[in-house]
Amino acid sequence: MAEPSDFMGLAHSNMKKQGPLHVATPLRESLALTKVAGTSVYIKLESSQPTGSFKIRGIGHLCKTDCKYPGSGEGVGGKPTAATWPWFVPLDKWSERGCKRFVCCSGGNAGMAAAYSARHLSIPATIVVPSVTPPSTVQRLKDEGADVIIHGKALNESISYGEELVANNPGSVFISPFDDPLIWEGHSSLVRELEEDLKEKPGAVVLSVGGGGLMNGVVEGLRHAGWADVPVVAMETHGAHSFNAAVKAGRLVTLPEITSIATTLGLATVSAQSLKLSGEHPVFSEVVTDQDAVRAVERFLDDEKILVEPACGATLAAVYCGIIERLQGEGKLKQALGPVVVVVCGGNNISMEQLRGFKKKLGMLEQQFFITIRGPCGHALQLDAAPPPGGAASKRKKKRKKKLKKINNNK
Ligand SMILES: Cc1ncc(COP(=O)(O)O)c(C=O)c1O
Repeated sequence: MAEPSDFMGLAHSNMKKQGPLHVATPLRESLALTKVAGTSVYIKLESSQPTGSFKIRGIGHLCKTDCKYPGSGEGVGGKPTAATWPWFVPLDKWSERGCKRFVCCSGGNAGMAAAYSARHLSIPATIVVPSVTPPSTVQRLKDEGADVIIHGKALNESISYGEELVANNPGSVFISPFDDPLIWEGHSSLVRELEEDLKEKPGAVVLSVGGGGLMNGVVEGLRHAGWADVPVVAMETHGAHSFNAAVKAGRLVTLPEITSIATTLGLATVSAQSLKLSGEHPVFSEVVTDQDAVRAVERFLDDEKILVEPACGATLAAVYCGIIERLQGEGKLKQALGPVVVVVCGGNNISMEQLRGFKKKLGMLEQQFFITIRGPCGHALQLDAAPPPGGAASKRKKKRKKKLKKINNNK
């Protein structure tokens, strides 16, 4: 049977004709990361996409594609699968086919992409998010014009609920956050840009894995570019490591619980396609701690002046924690390595206040004192401050002084 990649040329021309919702992102050499890694590192800035992450590539493409999948039901709401892929034919627009609403389930970033796409296509959207989604992200989804439903603790529960919604509401179209050949194809556009912007073949591509949509798209793109031998370093955090668990077990594994703070990587089960690709392509699965991911977020902010969420910090930790160097030492990556491309996937689930919250939760804050003041627009500003006068330390000091005075007086 033909593979999705066999049809990519045709579909790529489709994408051009329609005009994508994503933008071509900057690729630039990072001297700071190069210095740490000891090998040339380029950063692909997906954080500069319209919705703050790479997700708009795949989801925008899925939402825009005027395709019908014979054998996928009535068309509307029918999900394309690897089995139906070769048979798609351009037919008509979603709305002309009776699409009344997109339903997307997401930890935030896929939802943002779906809401943005829906607004640009004048189609209402419902985004189902798990309860761990930060209120600021929920507000941003609403600002995009989407209806937001908070359901389930982990993303898988939100997805099941969204699928139910679609099944019970004719005219609703399910937009998977990661598990769809059209999404992978949309993400593959990232590699097409690398082909244009990089002077040579990459030595490796480093990226984060949640459900695996990004990785599936990048691997498809690498194959299409004739770079099927370029290794992918697939990063996850402990507690959201469903890909690593699957690779180790040689079968799909469902994690009992998502415990990582990198909630957008929190899929209890990775896509079957990701596991399949790990057996066909050089993929090195690596897991870091939440602390490593958060430290990487902070260091990247210092180095490149870009704030990303911990899901992206997991990717950056491949450099900051010396994983690239270790893989070279183990002979998995070449010693004379071509440029390492780090996919800065971005993310909305972050602010300075949230970063401090993550550090507090992870026990990474030293004893520090802050004053919180509200700016004219209601923003919370936290300023470093001296220990408050009259605090426990100062009371102890006063007591000691008094005691000393008493002793001296009694002499
Ligand atoms: C910022 C960010 N990075 C990485 C991922 C993982 O992407 P995927 O689910 O396609 O593996 C996500 C998923 O939502 C994300 O939001």
